[in-house]
Amino acid sequence: MVSDDEMRVDDNEPINWPTTTKGKGKGKATQHVEPYQDENLPWVEKYRPVTLEDVVSHHDITSTIEKFIEKNRLPHLLFYGPPGTGKTSTILAVARRIYGAEYRKQILELNASDDRGIEVVREQIKNFAETRTLFSKGYKLIILDEADMMTTAAQSALRRVIEQYTKNVRFCIICNYVNKIIPAIQSRCTRFRFSPLPIAEVEKRVDNVIEAEGVKLTAEGKQALLKLSKGDMRRALNVLQACHAAYELTGEAEIYNCTGNPQPADIETIVNSMLQDDFTTSYNMISALKTDRGLALPDLINGAYEYIETINFKPHARIYLLDFLATTEHRLSTGGSEKIQFTALLGAFKHAVELSAKST
Ligand SMILES: Nc1ncnc2c1ncn2[C@@H]1O[C@H](COP(=O)(O)OP(=O)(O)O)[C@@H](O)[C@H]1O
Ligand SMILES: [Mg+2]
Repeated sequence: MVSDDEMRVDDNEPINWPTTTKGKGKGKATQHVEPYQDENLPWVEKYRPVTLEDVVSHHDITSTIEKFIEKNRLPHLLFYGPPGTGKTSTILAVARRIYGAEYRKQILELNASDDRGIEVVREQIKNFAETRTLFSKGYKLIILDEADMMTTAAQSALRRVIEQYTKNVRFCIICNYVNKIIPAIQSRCTRFRFSPLPIAEVEKRVDNVIEAEGVKLTAEGKQALLKLSKGDMRRALNVLQACHAAYELTGEAEIYNCTGNPQPADIETIVNSMLQDDFTTSYNMISALKTDRGLALPDLINGAYEYIETINFKPHARIYLLDFLATTEHRLSTGGSEKIQFTALLGAFKHAVELSAKST
């Protein structure tokens, strides 16, 4: 399961790694033998799929690519979809499948942290594509991760390079948003969409990790983890590891703390107060709670949005409120004052209650 020579921490989401892992170490003295298996290795790397079969949920994609490889007819590939769904893992597994354990020498991997202006596309890719390694079979692989961050000019330059080197190079272009890739490149590649992973698949893999690492996680904690991961396996594993390092026993509250999401109970208190209490009481209570728990208004809006789904509102009141939540979120993202937006939101809740009480 453990990948061999991978020590890439490329596109991981920022996460607050707890600095103490005291008492969690297995105390193994094998570091010099297996340098990358120490406990500090992020689990997303440690449990990265090694073979194409290890990639969960995208069997249609992996089996298609497997057929391409068997027939020695690998086209240029374009992988797109939300983060943490296995795009990078899949192409690395493909590389390992084609070139074996020494695959690193046959591939060139560029991602957004590298400089990828037109110069790089022209020079680096060209250099790599032109050098022929002895005994190499067929083609080399160039992986352009996070290609949607490339400028249009660089993408246009890339188009020419793709054409020029099709004979001995295959490209794999990876991005989150396919519409940011210029059509000329899209049409030269076979496209595969990586959809968010089904909760059941995330759960299976998380279960394996929980067992392998001896994580103490309650049933509610696991439900919260799966819900918050939203089909992003990287997020699920990162949160799990952070919780494991920080807490002896991880429950629902710990998961929410680790992700910085407000606790459902807090959201419930806040929304109920907005609906029922008078303005001043509600304002003071929520302000105090916000300070106490370190909640920001956007988090609160996200939580409230989900909770409102479960409240019985007349349709027009619900629509009004959802619209207001959306507007507030937008205003906040463009620099609106948190305090003013918060009072406006409170007012909107009051208005929604009145709307809902009316017959039509
Ligand atoms: N389909 C999948 N099957 C198994 N593990 C996955 C899958 N998708 C993501 N992961 C896990 O999440 C981590 C990040 O996956 P990655 O392939 O880098 O995602 P992406 O490139 O799509 O953002 C991997 O190290 C792996 O542990
Ligand atoms: Mg990736």
